[in-house]
Amino acid sequence: MLEMAAMHVPVLAGEVIDLLAPRAGNTVIDATFGAGGHSTLLAGRIAERGTLIAIDRDPAAEERFESFSAEVTCKTRFIRSSFQEGLQLLSDEGMQADMLLLDLGVSSMQIDTRERGFSYSCNVPLDMRMDPTSGPTAADLVADLDERQLSRIFKEFGEERHSVVIAREIVRTRGRAPITTTGELVSCIERAVPAPALFAGGHPAKRTFQALRIAVNDELGQIDASLPLAWQVLRPGGRLAIISFHSLEDRRAKRFMTARATGCICPPDLPVCGCGRLPEGELITRRSVTPSSGEAASNPRSRSARLRVARKLEDIS
Ligand SMILES: C[S@@+](CC[C@H](N)C(=O)[O-])C[C@H]1O[C@@H](n2cnc3c(N)ncnc32)[C@H](O)[C@@H]1O
Repeated sequence: MLEMAAMHVPVLAGEVIDLLAPRAGNTVIDATFGAGGHSTLLAGRIAERGTLIAIDRDPAAEERFESFSAEVTCKTRFIRSSFQEGLQLLSDEGMQADMLLLDLGVSSMQIDTRERGFSYSCNVPLDMRMDPTSGPTAADLVADLDERQLSRIFKEFGEERHSVVIAREIVRTRGRAPITTTGELVSCIERAVPAPALFAGGHPAKRTFQALRIAVNDELGQIDASLPLAWQVLRPGGRLAIISFHSLEDRRAKRFMTARATGCICPPDLPVCGCGRLPEGELITRRSVTPSSGEAASNPRSRSARLRVARKLEDIS
C-alpha cells in the first residue's frame, strides 16, 4: 500500500498551492486525502504551527495517513467517513478553516489495487466501493436494478451512447447466471455494443465502469450535499478548491461557486434592488484551470482534471 501511495502523483499540485496560498499556522481540510499527495505539499507550507485535517472514506487512505502524520511537522487529524459526514462533524464542532480541498473521484491507489474492482483491465470481483466495508457493490447494483435504471445510470453518469443495449444484455445475461466479476461485465458490454464501437473511442467498458462507480459511491449526491458544508466550515477569507474529472462534477463546482459570487438577482429593469442579496464569495479562478501539456504528458490521468477556486468574503454587510 505504501509503495502505491509513493507512486501517486497529485494533479495540478503547483496550481493548488499557488491558488490556495497556504501560510504557516493555517488550518487546512483535505476532504479527499487519498494517498496524501496534496496533503504533503500543504503540510509543508503550514509547518508546525498549522493543522491539517484529512477526510477519506477508504480504510487504505487511513493506513496511508498513519505514515503521513509521522512524516509531517504540523498537527494532524484523520476522519474516516464520507466527506459529507466528516464536514458535518466539523461544522457541528464550529470549525473555521483557512482552506479546503476536494480532489474528487478515485485515487490511483484505488484504481491500481486490482481486487478493488475499479478497473476493466483485470478480472476480479465487481466491487468499486471506495469504502469496501459498507454499502452495495457494483455487482449488487448490476443484480438488483431493472433495465431502465441501469440504462439511465450508464447514460447519465457515463454518457454511454449504447446504454440501452448494454442494460438489455446485462438483464439477459444475469437471467442465466449472476454477473459477479469485472470480466463478466466486460464480456457483457462487448457482446452488446455494435462492432465498430468496440474499436473506437477507447475501451468499450470505460463509460459503463465510470457510471457504475459513480452510482455505487453516490458521488454526485455526496458533492451536492457537501458543498454547502464545505463553505460553512471556512472562515471569512478562507478558500475552497475543487478538482473535478468529468463534466458532471465540474458543472456542480462551477454552479456552486458562481452562485456564492453572485449578488443582486433582481431583473435589470427594476430601478432599485428588491432582493437584497449580496455576494458571499469571489471567484479566484474565472475559468477552470487545466493541467499544462507537460503534466498531461507525464501523468495521463491528470488530462481530464479541472481546478476551480473561490474565496469566502470577509464582510458581506
Ligand atoms: C482523487 S483521490 C485524492 C488524491 C489526493 N488528493 C492525493 O493527492 O493523494 C480521491 C480520494 O477521495 C476519496 N473520496 C472520494 N469521494 C469521497 C467521499 N464522498 N467521501 C470521502 N472520501 C471520498 C477517495 O476514497 C479517494 O481516496
